[in-house]
Amino acid sequence: MSPNDQLGPTVFVIFGGAGDLTGRKLIPALFDLAQDRGLPAHFAIIAVDRLRMGDDALRGRLQAGVNQFSRFGKAKPAAWKQFAEHIHYQQGDFQKLPTYTSLGKQCGKLEKAWGARAHRIFYMATPPSLFGEIPKYLGAAGLARDREWARIVIEKPIGYDLASALALNATLAATFTEAQIFRIDHYLGKETVQNILAFRFANPLFEPIWNRRYIDYVTITVAETVGVEHRGGYYDHAGALRDMVQNHLMQLLCLVAMEPMVSFQADEIRNKKVDVLHAIRPIHQDAVSQCAVRGQYGSGMRGGKPVPGYREESGVAPDSQTETFVAMKLFIDNWRWQDVPFYLRTGKCLPRQSSEISIQFRAVPHQAFPPEASLGWQPSRLILAIQPEEGIVLGFQAKYPGARMQLRPVDMGFNYRESFAAPSPDAYETLLWDVMKSDATLFMRADQVEAAWQLLMPVLQGWQAAPPSDFPNYAAGTWGPEEAQGLLALGHRWPLPTELAPTGRKTGKN
Ligand code: BG6
Repeated sequence: MSPNDQLGPTVFVIFGGAGDLTGRKLIPALFDLAQDRGLPAHFAIIAVDRLRMGDDALRGRLQAGVNQFSRFGKAKPAAWKQFAEHIHYQQGDFQKLPTYTSLGKQCGKLEKAWGARAHRIFYMATPPSLFGEIPKYLGAAGLARDREWARIVIEKPIGYDLASALALNATLAATFTEAQIFRIDHYLGKETVQNILAFRFANPLFEPIWNRRYIDYVTITVAETVGVEHRGGYYDHAGALRDMVQNHLMQLLCLVAMEPMVSFQADEIRNKKVDVLHAIRPIHQDAVSQCAVRGQYGSGMRGGKPVPGYREESGVAPDSQTETFVAMKLFIDNWRWQDVPFYLRTGKCLPRQSSEISIQFRAVPHQAFPPEASLGWQPSRLILAIQPEEGIVLGFQAKYPGARMQLRPVDMGFNYRESFAAPSPDAYETLLWDVMKSDATLFMRADQVEAAWQLLMPVLQGWQAAPPSDFPNYAAGTWGPEEAQGLLALGHRWPLPTELAPTGRKTGKN
């Protein structure tokens, strides 16, 4: 692995360095970056955590994570050895100033040894309860002082509601400038999500019809087959609206609905996204049921095997009222999108993993074909498949071969794997690389997080005021509660399971 000279000397500090996120995501991503693009010639990772252990013990744990989660598979011993030399452990209490002063000294020592000043990245891979604390100590220890060289990285959840998000953003802003703060939504690091911008704005073909005149409605589906797994304790206090809609689904909505950017500057793109959030028609607390449906899975079958209901998962209250499914109908009040419904849905324990956006075009204004020609006729539809299938499929009508004029829907598609030999980096690789380059394009700005909370607060409040009486209301392995159908306007529908791009679907064929 040769060093990458695009990046200057860097000290990458991970608070929660012995934790799950570090082992499963951060270190595998940094290791993969080292293999793929190279890391700075002068680079160190300082993992800070409470446990007592030495560098070697930590490195052993992290190696196991890399072997399991690196996209290159099990690490070659020489590559791991070379990478592991950059990792150091510092034991310390996150809520004691000496942890931070000794961290400062260690950074200083490294800089002295390198003979160069280093970028200092502080990554909060800790429980969210510490998000408001760590920045204060960093400030008190003088570690955030240099605006050019210090950066802080924070993951969702950014707050639990609007008030806590405002408070957290204010705490961060007391120590760091906005340009130093990198708020991660890992969906933005996905190649297929970034490709939405490329598809919309690097091709003249679709932009002229990307509006209410030609688009009937849009659906955004993020379906997961998994339940809450080992995260019941966290999830039961969050629920699907906070866990998925406030961040990942809102980001997808913004990318689909935003106006063209003028440049690729981080703030230009983020401004355009915030404009979308500001234009979404406010939801009134007393009309929540008209635009949002919640669900919770009960026991059912998944992949042919019985699975327990949500309330039987570990860490979940036996009478939990937390939602594991949300469907919503939103409108964007601007010239482009007036009266075009955007239907969003996400859920756990659904029959298939599938994240995709479906753009349903309007019917042709005049149907000139004889009725029998167009049995099974469907208006054109564009599917942006995010995962696990990665690609774009345009469904349109074609003449069925034969003497008579008969129409059938066909697909024309682009598939990442078939089109590009290059493997896609993991979202964390992209995001950590961008943090090191100080490029904030793919990160959430404070106002964006707050605008998303603002929009969803009436839903949270409405739901809190009227607890669900029918939970669990969908069986694991089904597509969520029936009520989600009721959100749809006449003639609209959620994509059928057979229309969601299944893994291994060959695009370009009917
Ligand atoms: C996380 C949520 O942000 O995203 C999880 O907390 C969810 O509940 C996950 O499973 C989904 O991410 P991905 O990349 O697997 O779609």
